[in-house]
This record gives sequence, structure tokens and C-alpha cells, in this order.
Amino acid sequence: MRTIAVLNQKGGVGKTTTVVNVAAALADRGLRVLAIDLDPQAHLTVHLGVDAEQKDCGIYKVLAGSTSIEEAVVQVRPNLRLLGAGIDLVGAEAELVGEVGREIILRQALEPVKDKFDYVLIDCPPSLGLLTLNALSASTEVVIPIQPHFLALQGFSRLLQTVSLVQSRINPALRVSAILMCMFDARTSLSTEVREDIEKFLSGARNQNSPWAGAQIIPVHVRRNIKLAEAPSYGKTIFEYEPGCHGATDYLAVAEFIHTGKICGAFEQKKTQESAAENVTEPATQDTTESISS
Ligand SMILES: Nc1ncnc2c1ncn2[C@@H]1O[C@H](COP(=O)(O)OP(=O)(O)O)[C@@H](O)[C@H]1O
Ligand SMILES: [Mg+2]
Repeated sequence: MRTIAVLNQKGGVGKTTTVVNVAAALADRGLRVLAIDLDPQAHLTVHLGVDAEQKDCGIYKVLAGSTSIEEAVVQVRPNLRLLGAGIDLVGAEAELVGEVGREIILRQALEPVKDKFDYVLIDCPPSLGLLTLNALSASTEVVIPIQPHFLALQGFSRLLQTVSLVQSRINPALRVSAILMCMFDARTSLSTEVREDIEKFLSGARNQNSPWAGAQIIPVHVRRNIKLAEAPSYGKTIFEYEPGCHGATDYLAVAEFIHTGKICGAFEQKKTQESAAENVTEPATQDTTESISS
């Protein structure tokens, strides 16, 4: 099971959009995916078409210790399950402050379902508080979406410092695997400049013993695409809303890169093959196509 925290303490950089569409692309390819909404704004929950007011679907109860993950997840698509957020998550950080081991509640809760998922994708809140610490303690990887605009890297070192602290104190396996450029506009020099700044920073870290020493910029940039901004209000992923748009193409490639470490159109090929003949299994996903019982 790969557990990926999608993290940036800035809001509006593309975290939720990334979790929804990468989760959907992986699940479409037969991988068993759990998406976790750790943001009290519950955008991920709503984006996947689930009512955030629904009381019995929730991360809150899991963190409060009153239910297990198995009971709290809902199946939202084939192979895709959601541990949703609701308004009750707003008070969770304050309530958990007095708990012993408060940073590792999510990690412990995930332990029993480890073999049931290939991927757990965690949509983090726009802060570095206790909910984010739970995400980092439970994860093996961090993916950082960045919106390349003025001050894009402000707060970046604090983010990395937080990852570093969690790695040294709680979760030695944690590493930053990738940076994803979201809402990229190749026409502006700013987008390119931000990318170059990050590249410079990462190449300076290569030989260090830091959790981001092996991080790379995902070689697909998610272009600014209005369809990606429209899809959430319909409760649809980009593949359901407008499968032919740039946003769908970009997120398919991002998911392929996350899964295979390269981009050679394997995810797209599968789609074509599937329409020609059903039950074709993509080699990259051969070992992991079995879905958990609902
Ligand atoms: N590539 C994109 N092009 C256009 N709009 C986007 C893109 N990615 C995200 N958006 C929109 O930008 C807003 C912020 O994205 P979101 O994923 O919610 O960010 P975060 O979760 O980091 O706050 C949302 O309204 C979303 O629909
Ligand atoms: Mg969000």
C-alpha cells in the first residue's frame, strides 16, 4: 500500500483536484484506492459527489476513536472508496489536543486495512496543524502541488521543515516524492521561473540526507483548464465530466507517472484497449486488479 499525503499549507493550489482525479485514474485502472478528506472544508467529499452533512461517513469518527475505517468508508466509484469529511471535523484539532499519541491516530486506524488498498491518497487541509501531522505520520510519501505564481514558494521551507520533523521523530519512512505544477500556464514566464527555482532547490538537496533528496518535479504540468474548475460543482471527476479535455489528459499522465515512474501513454492505451476488448489487463496493474469486497 502506498500512502500519499497531498500537501501544501496554501489553499487553492490544486490539492483536492489532484486527489480526486489521480484517485479516479488509478481506480479506473483496477487499482484499489482509498481517498481521505482531511480538510474540514470537505471539498474532496463534495467533489466526489457525497453529501458532507451525512453524519455516518467520516474521518472525524475515526479520529475520535468511535469507529473503524472499514465502517466509515463509503464506496464512491468502482475500486474507489472515500473516507469523507463533514462539518464536525472543524473542532477535531482542538478536541484531540489532549490525547496521548494524537499525531498517530490515523496511522493506527489505517493499519487493519493495509492489505485492502493499493493506494491511500490524503487530501490535507491548508495548514500544518494536527490533522496534517496525522496525514504525515500515516504516509510513506508526500506530493506537493504548487501553483506557479508570485510568492508560490513562500512557506515552502516551513512545509519541508514540518515533513523533516515528522520524519525524524515519528515516521522515518516518510519522503517527499514529487512536486506537481498545477494550473500551469506556459505562456507566462513566471510559471517557468517558479519551476526553475524548484529545480535549483531540489538539485541542491540531492546529496543531502533530507526527506526531499529524491523528490522530482512530475514531468507533466497540469495546465490551467476551465473544465477542472467546473467539474466539482457536478460532483464529477474530470474523466466523467469531460474526458477529452486537457485536464483529463494531464491528470491521466500524472497518475501514470505516480504509478509507474514514467509516462509512456500506458494509462491511455488501456482505455483504448478496453473499448476494443473488455477484460484486458494492463501489465503495470496486473498484480493489483483484485478489488476488496464491498
Ligand atoms: N488546472 C486547473 N485549472 C483551472 N482550475 C483549477 C485547476 N486545478 C484546480 N482548479 C480550481 O482551482 C480551485 C482550487 O483548487 P483546489 O484543488 O480546490 O485547491 P486546494 O485543494 O489546494 O485548495 C478550485 O476551484 C479548482 O476547481
Ligand atoms: Mg482542497
